[in-house]
Amino acid sequence: MDSLHEETSKSELTDEERELFSKHMPEELPEIQSTGIKRRHFLKLLAITGGGFLTLQLVDAHNLLAQPLVDQVPVSPASLENAVKVSMRINGVRKSLDVDSRMTLLDSLRERLGLTGSKKGCDHGQCGTCTVLVNDRRVLSCLTLAATCEGKEVTTIEGLAKGDDLHPMQASFLKHDGFQCGYCTPGQICSAVALMNEAKAGEASYLTADVRTISKNLQLSDDEIRERMSGNICRCSAYPNILAAITEVHTGHDVSQNWRLQ
Ligand code: FES
Ligand code: FES
Repeated sequence: MDSLHEETSKSELTDEERELFSKHMPEELPEIQSTGIKRRHFLKLLAITGGGFLTLQLVDAHNLLAQPLVDQVPVSPASLENAVKVSMRINGVRKSLDVDSRMTLLDSLRERLGLTGSKKGCDHGQCGTCTVLVNDRRVLSCLTLAATCEGKEVTTIEGLAKGDDLHPMQASFLKHDGFQCGYCTPGQICSAVALMNEAKAGEASYLTADVRTISKNLQLSDDEIRERMSGNICRCSAYPNILAAITEVHTGHDVSQNWRLQ
C-alpha cells in the first residue's frame, strides 16, 4: 500500500465511505470531512474493521486506481549514458522523455513520471503485475523498452478512470473484492480490460476449440477467462473474486457478491 501517505489530500467522501465512517468512527467524521482521510483515521478503521476490502477501497479507489499523471522527475540527459528521446501519449497526455535506451517502460512510468500504479513484481516477465496497455493491447512493461513506444498510446491503471468515474472493470473489482493486498490488482485490471477487447475482436486463445470458426464478440466461459488471465499471478489467491469481477463486466449481467460485512 505504498500510495498511502501520512496525510492524504482533502477528499470528497462517497456515500459508502460516509456511511462507513459514521458507523465506525462517528466522532472523527467532521474532521475527516473537513481535512480528508489521514493515516491515523485509516489505521483506526483498519483496527475496527479488521482490514480487507473496505479499508483498501478507501485508499485505493482514490490513490491506486485514479492517480493523476504528475510532472516528470527531472533528469539531465547528460547523466544518461545512452539517452534517447521518446514521445508517447500516456493516459491521454503527450509526453516527451529523455530516457536511457535500456530503460524499461515500467521504470519510465514509475521513476520518471510518478505513475506508481503499475507495480514491479518479478521484473522478469513472469507475474503480470506490471501489465499496461500499449495501443490497447496488454504488454508486460517490465519487458518493454520505453524507446520502443515512440508515438504509441500507453494506458496505465491511472488512465482507466475518467475523472471520478472508475472504469467498469475497476468498479467491478471493488464490488467483488477482487483483491486483498492489492499489489497485483493494477496489472489484473489492465489485463482484464485488454481481454475484453480481445474477445470482442474474436482473438483465439489456447482453449479456443476451432480457430477456423472463431467469430467476433466471443462469449467467454469461466475456463476461457481463467486461461486468458493466466499470465497474471496473484499471491493472495483472489482468483475466484477476480473471475467474478471480469465475468460481470464481460457478460453485462449482475454477478452476486460472495462476501459481506459482518
Ligand atoms: S514485473 Fe513484469 S511480469 Fe512481473
Ligand atoms: S491481491 Fe495480493 S497479490 Fe493479488
